Amino acid sequence: MRENTVKIGLMGLGTVGTGVVRIVQGHQEDLQKQTGLAIEIAKVLVKNAEKERNISLDDDILTTDPADLVENPDIDVIVEVIGGINPTKQYMLQALENGKHIVTANKDLMALHGAEILSKAQEKGCDVFYEASVGGGIPILRALVEGFSSDRITKMMGIVNGTTNYIMTKMSKEGADYAEVLKEAQELGYAESDPTADVEGHDAARKMAILGTLGFHVDMNLDDVDCEGISRVSAEDIAHAKQLGYEIKLLGIAQRDGELIDVSVQPTLVARSHPLASVNGVFNAVYVHGEAVGETMFYGPGAGELPTATAVVSDLVTVVKNKKLGVNGRGSVAPYKEKHLKTDDQIVSKYFLRLIVDDKRGVLAQITRILADHDVSLEQVLQQPYNDGKQSEIILVTHQASRKNIFDVRKLFEEIDSVYEVKSLYRVEGGEE
Ligand code: NDP
Ligand code: HSE
Repeated sequence: MRENTVKIGLMGLGTVGTGVVRIVQGHQEDLQKQTGLAIEIAKVLVKNAEKERNISLDDDILTTDPADLVENPDIDVIVEVIGGINPTKQYMLQALENGKHIVTANKDLMALHGAEILSKAQEKGCDVFYEASVGGGIPILRALVEGFSSDRITKMMGIVNGTTNYIMTKMSKEGADYAEVLKEAQELGYAESDPTADVEGHDAARKMAILGTLGFHVDMNLDDVDCEGISRVSAEDIAHAKQLGYEIKLLGIAQRDGELIDVSVQPTLVARSHPLASVNGVFNAVYVHGEAVGETMFYGPGAGELPTATAVVSDLVTVVKNKKLGVNGRGSVAPYKEKHLKTDDQIVSKYFLRLIVDDKRGVLAQITRILADHDVSLEQVLQQPYNDGKQSEIILVTHQASRKNIFDVRKLFEEIDSVYEVKSLYRVEGGEE
């Protein structure tokens, strides 16, 4: 660190990188007042130096050579907003090896290789902060690590992917077409470079792995997160959910009962009375329940240039403050609890089932018998004509049932002749237990 200036190596000048430059330039005076130092973006790594940019930077700042940042003795902090695992992970490890602090928005990297990166950082006395990796502009990681440090978290439920929430909201409120809204979300800079990560729930699963690790103090792997995306949620599902008083959201759920935990991502019916049901568009929210504090909820923009960049630059401010205090690399607490994952018979929830059945006598009785045999009782039942009255559509909301039992029920429904098709099976959250 030069006397009065901290020099930053910015990796990536796309949606988030551009926002970082705008905030560092536009808020320079405030940043300097808070840290006592000037923050200068010294080098910016991009893939294509010829690309037209909608931000102005000095000509000698852009580079396509990562060594100009990671091997540059003038650079104190690397801000990584390239994304992906390769070559980014190598750049991070090399930067840490050279004693540089890191701020990143990369949930892929932190969910898959966070332990390795954090342990390297500890070895080298460096900070690694990744607030923007979950919830965009919502300071949720800081809330978990600092705000809830005195409590024991029992449940986190999150709408943690802006792209899918934008799609689901437009489908639900405007009857919009899935493919068109996805394209819009891409144009707005919300989606990942491969939007499959958004729609198949992988992005949300990575974020839930990070929340699970920090909230429950266990080493959550991505493989521990059961994951299903929104691609098979139909307009009919959304309409039926509404009819019953629910919105469908791609929901991350992390739950702890005693020492047992489970973390999952799936389309979920959320009761309209629950605050998560009214989180719309690109907004994200994380509901956190603590043994002592009870219910809390954190809400804000989950993606986009400036919201995400605020989280990145706030991490940068923390690195600079730590540097002034000489405490870099001392703040992080490694997971200290053993991980005990629930099995399917221990994961309990309410469920929504939609079946297409033959419209003949005895079918409903057969269905309810199968449910009763598996200890599944019903909260709501709706039956209506389907396919011009040639078949019936049966919509069920169950009381609490184990995941094992409900999956066994679905398998039996798929096998019996009178059930033509099991159209949908979703978890249900909120409302009466
Ligand atoms: P973009 O695709 O908009 O930008 C990526 C940038 O990285 C581009 O400037 C690109 O260069 C550069 N880049 C890509 N690969 C390389 C490489 N191999 N070497 C050098 N430079 C490279 O991504 P975003 O800004 O949207 O996302 C960045 C990160 O932030 C990701 O990890 C993402 O998950 C995360 N994030 C994004 C949010 C959002 O709202 N977009 C919100 C929260 C997190 P060039 O410009 O030359 O093509
Ligand atoms: N693609 C991500 C989303 C970006 O839509 O939420 C923010 O992490």
